[in-house]
Amino acid sequence: MGIFKSLFGPKEAKMVQVAPFGARYEVPSGQTILEAALANHVPFPHNCTVGTCGSCKCKLKSGRVSALTDFGYTLSQQEIAAGFILACQAVPKDALTEVEVEGAATDAPPAEQFVATLADTESLTHDILKVTLKLDRPIQFMAGQYANLKYPNIRRARNYSFADAPVRDGRQTVHFFIRKVPNGAFTEDLFSGRLDGVPIDVDGPHGNFHLHPGDGPMVCIAGGSGLAPLLSVLEKARKDRVQRPCAFLFGARTEADLYALEQIDEIAMGWAAPFVFLPVLSHEPTGSAWKGARGWVTEFITDALPDTDWAKAEGYMCGPPGMIDAGIASMTEIGIKLESIYYDKFTDESHIAKMP
Ligand code: FES
Repeated sequence: MGIFKSLFGPKEAKMVQVAPFGARYEVPSGQTILEAALANHVPFPHNCTVGTCGSCKCKLKSGRVSALTDFGYTLSQQEIAAGFILACQAVPKDALTEVEVEGAATDAPPAEQFVATLADTESLTHDILKVTLKLDRPIQFMAGQYANLKYPNIRRARNYSFADAPVRDGRQTVHFFIRKVPNGAFTEDLFSGRLDGVPIDVDGPHGNFHLHPGDGPMVCIAGGSGLAPLLSVLEKARKDRVQRPCAFLFGARTEADLYALEQIDEIAMGWAAPFVFLPVLSHEPTGSAWKGARGWVTEFITDALPDTDWAKAEGYMCGPPGMIDAGIASMTEIGIKLESIYYDKFTDESHIAKMP
C-alpha cells in the first residue's frame, strides 16, 4: 500500500522561496519559477519570459532546477559558475527551492496602465529617434526602468527604457530612444509618421536596472540605443549629488552613431566627483578626422579610470548581448566583483521588434 501510494498518490508540492521579497509559493507541475511567481503576484523582475534578456536572473541558494533552455545562451560562464539561473527557464525539481534576486529594487513603483500619444520625434542619428510621448497622467518610475508600448497594429508590446531621470511627482511627458529595425512593424510605423495621433498603451514601469547604493567608483558602458537607461541613472545620480568617481564609456560604430553628447556633457559638468566620458568607435573609417578611441568599448575600462581600486567598483551596462558578455569578462578580469556588475541586455526579443 505504501509503495502504491508513493507511485500513484498525489505528487509532493514544489515550493519556491524568493528573497528579498519574502515570498513563498507553490509551483504547479510543469510551470517555471517565474510563471508561478507572477501568478502569485510576486514582483519578480522579468522581461522577455523566453530566456533571452537575463532580467529574471537569480541565484539558486538551495534545491535543484531543470532548465527548459540552456542558461548559457544568456548568462555568462562566470554567472553560471557563481550559481545564477534564469527563473523563466527554471522548473524546480525538489520540494523546496530557494532563490535570491540580488540587488532587487524592492521599492520600485508598481506597474500601471497608461494611454499616450506621440508628442514629438527628433532624429538623433540616421537610425535612432528621440521619441516624446505624452501620457494621460504622470508615471512614477525608477531611473533605469522601462515601459511596454503597444497599439492595435502590433501583436506584441515593445519595451523601451525611459531616457529621463524620474521626478518626485511623476512624469507625464517621457522620452525614449528608438532604433529603426528593418521591417519591424512598430518602428516602420513610427519612422514613417503613421503613429501620429494613434493612442498607444503604455504599461510600466518594469525592470530591475537601477543605481545601487554604495560609494565605490562606477564603470558605465552603453552600446547603441542602450544609452537611455544609463542616462536616466546618471542624470538622477547627478541630481542627487552622488559622490562617486564615474567612467562612462559609449560604444558606437562610427562618429555619426554618437548622440546625446550635450546631455552627457551636462551630466559630466554637474557630477559631484571625477567623471570621465570616453566614446569608443568600432567601425570608424581609417583616415577619418576622429582622434578618439577606436576598437571595442569593453577594452577601454582601465584607460577611462586608471589607478582604481576595482574591488570596490560597480559595473553598469546597457546594450547588445555580445557587448554585455564581453563587458562582464573585462570587468571581472580587472577585479570588479561579479555581484557588483548590473546590466540590461537589449536583445532581439526584448527591445527590438522582429514581428508584428
Ligand atoms: S525574463 Fe527570463 S531571460 Fe528574459
